[in-house]
Amino acid sequence: MANDAGLSTIKSGTEMYMSLYPETSTDKGLRLGNVVPDFKAETTQGPIESFHEWKKGKWAILFSHPADFTPVCTTEIGRLALKYDSLAAMDCLVATLSVDPVKSHEEWLTDVVAHCENKIEIKFPIIGDQDRSISTAYGMIDPGTSGDQTLPLTIRAVFIINPENKLMLSLNYPACVGRNMDEIVRCVKALQLSYQKSIATPANWPYNHESIGMKGSVFLLPTVSAEEAEANYPGFHTCELPSQKSYLRLVKAEVVGGEVDGGAAAGDDIEAIKKEIAELKVKIATAGSKPSEDKKPEPSPAPAPAPAPAPAAGACCMVS
Ligand code: BEZ
Repeated sequence: MANDAGLSTIKSGTEMYMSLYPETSTDKGLRLGNVVPDFKAETTQGPIESFHEWKKGKWAILFSHPADFTPVCTTEIGRLALKYDSLAAMDCLVATLSVDPVKSHEEWLTDVVAHCENKIEIKFPIIGDQDRSISTAYGMIDPGTSGDQTLPLTIRAVFIINPENKLMLSLNYPACVGRNMDEIVRCVKALQLSYQKSIATPANWPYNHESIGMKGSVFLLPTVSAEEAEANYPGFHTCELPSQKSYLRLVKAEVVGGEVDGGAAAGDDIEAIKKEIAELKVKIATAGSKPSEDKKPEPSPAPAPAPAPAPAAGACCMVS
């Protein structure tokens, strides 16, 4: 369907599905589609008078950690800092939070930076939510939790919020499991695609459907009619299914502006792997120059993997 200007009027994934959820919660719970609570806060970058004003018209991630001067949190803030520039390029702001005071955050950040070999800069504010008001409003701490607790901890939460201040995605992790920052960047990218286009991203996107030459492709929404699909997404591929139903309609990443190996890939991890390989090469070369009695027998090379079978005509297997 097209309007007078020839532009597509079919609904994006966000318009189609997020409108099913109310903007305002009826029981103070915070759920997908709700406008997130506004708040004021003290941070490591000075006060935020209104979170809504601070992020005005942008995407934002609110990321909580249980406590300063703890091991997993130290690695998480460092890893998040490494993703900051990719997120900023996607017009996505970042703020993190714990119930520790701002002064504690400031002292702790020296450790965080040192643990990343002083190669990072913390460019986002860290909120000091000492009275736990933000943590409680966002459901990271139960309002019934005792205020006398000597060790108040938020869960590890991630809230991804759209330009209209609506909660688009949330992750909750316990204290003992650190988060994967690549997954968070991937989620922002997927959300932004479905905010603009009538698509949904498959499992493991953008590492999907490589075996049929459609790595990083995305699905047209079931609500897109056959005519709309032809008009707006020419060249889409319909996978054959036993049911004969045509609901697996793949569109190549480049058609919707989704990169396959872009920011969602582990850019900083790739650098770390390259460094490790270089170090290993030096070690191997050094070991090779030692007297022969020190040498252990070379392990026999692993057998070459069997080539992947060619997909049968009409096949559309997602496993690759
Ligand atoms: C941590 O970040 O390592 C952590 C924080 C709170 C409880 C347990 C672990």
